[in-house]
Amino acid sequence: AETVPFAHALPVPKTLAPLSRSATTDVYEMRMREADVEIVKGLTSRVRTFDGTFPGPTIKACHGRAVEVRQYNDLTVNAAVHLHGGEVHSEHDGLPMDVIEPGGNRTYHYPNKQRAASLWYHDHAHHLEAENVYKGLHGLYLISDAEEKKLPLPRGAFDVPLVIRDARVESDGTLRYTRPSDCPHMLVNGKERPYFKVAARKYRLRLYNACANRYIRLRLADGTPFTQIASDGGLLERPVQRDELLMLGGERVEVVVDFSRYAVGQSVVLENTGALPTERPEVLRFDIDRRSTDNSEVPARLSTLPPVPRGTVERDFELRTFPAMTINGVSYDPDRVDVATTVGSSEIWTIRNVEAPPAAPPDFHLYHSFHTHLTYFRVLERNGKPAGVQDSGLKDTVCLGPGETVKIAMTWGPYAGQYLYHCHQLGHSSGGQMGRIDINPA
Ligand code: C2O
Repeated sequence: AETVPFAHALPVPKTLAPLSRSATTDVYEMRMREADVEIVKGLTSRVRTFDGTFPGPTIKACHGRAVEVRQYNDLTVNAAVHLHGGEVHSEHDGLPMDVIEPGGNRTYHYPNKQRAASLWYHDHAHHLEAENVYKGLHGLYLISDAEEKKLPLPRGAFDVPLVIRDARVESDGTLRYTRPSDCPHMLVNGKERPYFKVAARKYRLRLYNACANRYIRLRLADGTPFTQIASDGGLLERPVQRDELLMLGGERVEVVVDFSRYAVGQSVVLENTGALPTERPEVLRFDIDRRSTDNSEVPARLSTLPPVPRGTVERDFELRTFPAMTINGVSYDPDRVDVATTVGSSEIWTIRNVEAPPAAPPDFHLYHSFHTHLTYFRVLERNGKPAGVQDSGLKDTVCLGPGETVKIAMTWGPYAGQYLYHCHQLGHSSGGQMGRIDINPA
């Protein structure tokens, strides 16, 4: 459907209230079900939801308090709920074969013994995750901790998640799953290119690339830099200035933007310079509509990261799209162990995207977004050079352009069990670009 940009106010996904709270655990319940929502102004789209909202409701968790989520599958397809970025036991990881069948339910347990970070939950059912996530099965899961709460960063109404993803909405409202070059609509928090009325002060923006199959390159149209404060795995040690944010599917970047540099009445557009020439670049318009006091600050020192793992085990991975979606020449087989390791093993993984650069866009399918379950990693090198700002902090997903090589370091754990690594372009993982890693007890 043809659309007019900035027709919707930006919604913020609602925070789910726990059903009950014990001394140790917050208990939640959600129903996965179809729902009719307005994505493009004036059209009704049937989507697959967590609990009736698109995206799903946000769970706010605290370090040291466990969360339990009972998920009911009222859909007509299988679903498996994975907490992306979650350090969870294997049986609660939402493995591809470990599905909730239609009519069934399952309780997932999340220990939250990890540092503050912006996570998300989404479907991971075998071969279905790309379409299920695209159709709406994704939501946010935010963990806070004492260290983060002490910082004077913008909070409350000034700490806002922006879940960015593409879509194709037909003129009858149908949300159609198709390749990204046929998905001209950019959504933020479920609405097509909304506007957001902001006060002239600092905001913390938690950016997510929830696209099934495309990268985005975000910048403010007037060139104002972002102050990045966090990556996939939470706060960086120090803030870094970024002019443009290249984000592959699954990645998170948190920034602070100070709108006090604008006059009341001005607007600034967040744009995607990675849009195709046939697409509009606008993603979101910030309308500065009021003055405000602002006691928030971005401290020069944000956090202390755990030391970079010193790997002793080295492994190599090659990702290919042609002639089939593979890692090291094979497609995912749930019965085959691709990597066997032990809790506490520190490793260096070299990952290569063997795709050659394309002659012209669209080139989305030639990018890979390498993601590991259970364990965060550090990016050591990109194309033989020390990792730059794009790769700073703790990561669980790393971008690989055509022909690129990255070296990452991680320590496997804290739990033993069966986990996954895969490309987070979800058409690629659904197509088999995924491996099984079994972590044995030490
Ligand atoms: Cu967000 Cu295995 O994925």
